[in-house]
Amino acid sequence: MTQKILLTGGAGYIGAHTYVALSKAGFEPVILDNFSNADRDTPARLAQLTGKACLCHDCDLLDSDGLDAVFAAHDFAATVHFAAYKAVGDSVARPQAYFNNNMGGLINLLGAMERHDLGRIVFSSSATVYGDCDQQPIPETAPLSATNPYGLSKLVGEQMLGQMQVAHPDWAISILRYFNPVGLHKSGLLRLSPEETTQPPENLMPRLIEVAKGTRKQLSVFGDDYDTPDGTGLRDYIHVEDLARGHVLALQALITTDESHTVNLGTGQGYSVLEMIAAFAAACGRDIPYTIAPRRAGDVARCYADVSHAKAVLGFETEFGLNEMCADSWVA
Ligand SMILES: NC(=O)c1ccc[n+]([C@@H]2O[C@H](COP(=O)([O-])OP(=O)(O)OC[C@H]3O[C@@H](n4cnc5c(N)ncnc54)[C@H](O)[C@@H]3O)[C@@H](O)[C@H]2O)c1
Repeated sequence: MTQKILLTGGAGYIGAHTYVALSKAGFEPVILDNFSNADRDTPARLAQLTGKACLCHDCDLLDSDGLDAVFAAHDFAATVHFAAYKAVGDSVARPQAYFNNNMGGLINLLGAMERHDLGRIVFSSSATVYGDCDQQPIPETAPLSATNPYGLSKLVGEQMLGQMQVAHPDWAISILRYFNPVGLHKSGLLRLSPEETTQPPENLMPRLIEVAKGTRKQLSVFGDDYDTPDGTGLRDYIHVEDLARGHVLALQALITTDESHTVNLGTGQGYSVLEMIAAFAAACGRDIPYTIAPRRAGDVARCYADVSHAKAVLGFETEFGLNEMCADSWVA
């Protein structure tokens, strides 16, 4: 029988890509989303992409009764919990909103899982839980810390799940620490319309796209005096389709072994800001003007994943390299 998987935040960027990957792998994904940062057309586009009707509940995670109704309507094999606010700078300005939505949403979801006897969850965590880490590449065993409210909401989320595991030793919990997801489904159908999203894009790739389109005059490169080959910060970028496949593997591992795991999802390769600019300029065939600006508080010189545990536990390896990540991010 096809296994139904609840995707909270499944209409968002990573959720929608994971929906397609799960559907392709033979699961039946069901979306729960309040569309606070998603395109209302996404379910229709997912139906078009998969050739199957998209089951989607317009529901806020903070609405416990609504959650109960969704759980009562389906027999879920697992949940993948994407729904959260995600912008670091925004979280510094609005910490309470992040604590309420990210921690409050998880608390509600865990309550519904207990009430409906569902003990499998994949949690969208982030490399941000490593804070300012000295160890590079970063293994999952590195010390954890939070340098902003968003990071704290992810760190506390992981800790809550750790305590749920103590109370429910039979639960199978997957914590996936994403590095920097970029790119889009090759169909171009999963591109978000800027007018449908409320979370300000703060990452490098959305800004490169804005400069290439001419909606931003130039890119600010924050710091060129880091201890890296060209002086600019090194980050581990991962194609969102690779990331989506990582969720399929994580779910398959939870369902077949009923064992919990925590893994990094990255490529293990760091690219500098200048390398990203050059690769993106080549992919879009346009100049990317940039200036060097002072370092930003809280930025680290390098951040890339040790991917050996993901390979050992999930058999996960990325397929797409930098050129494909840039080419698939560019929709003129
Ligand atoms: N994109 C990244 O760079 C990145 C990196 C690391 C971790 N993550 C984490 O991955 C997850 C997904 O990220 P994304 O990039 O797809 O973000 P996104 O904003 O595109 O998707 C999140 C989705 O959750 C929904 N949502 C938010 N609050 C909700 C609520 N209370 N009830 C119901 N739905 C709600 C939004 O409408 C949106 O569709 C998030 O938890 C994020 O913190 C993202």
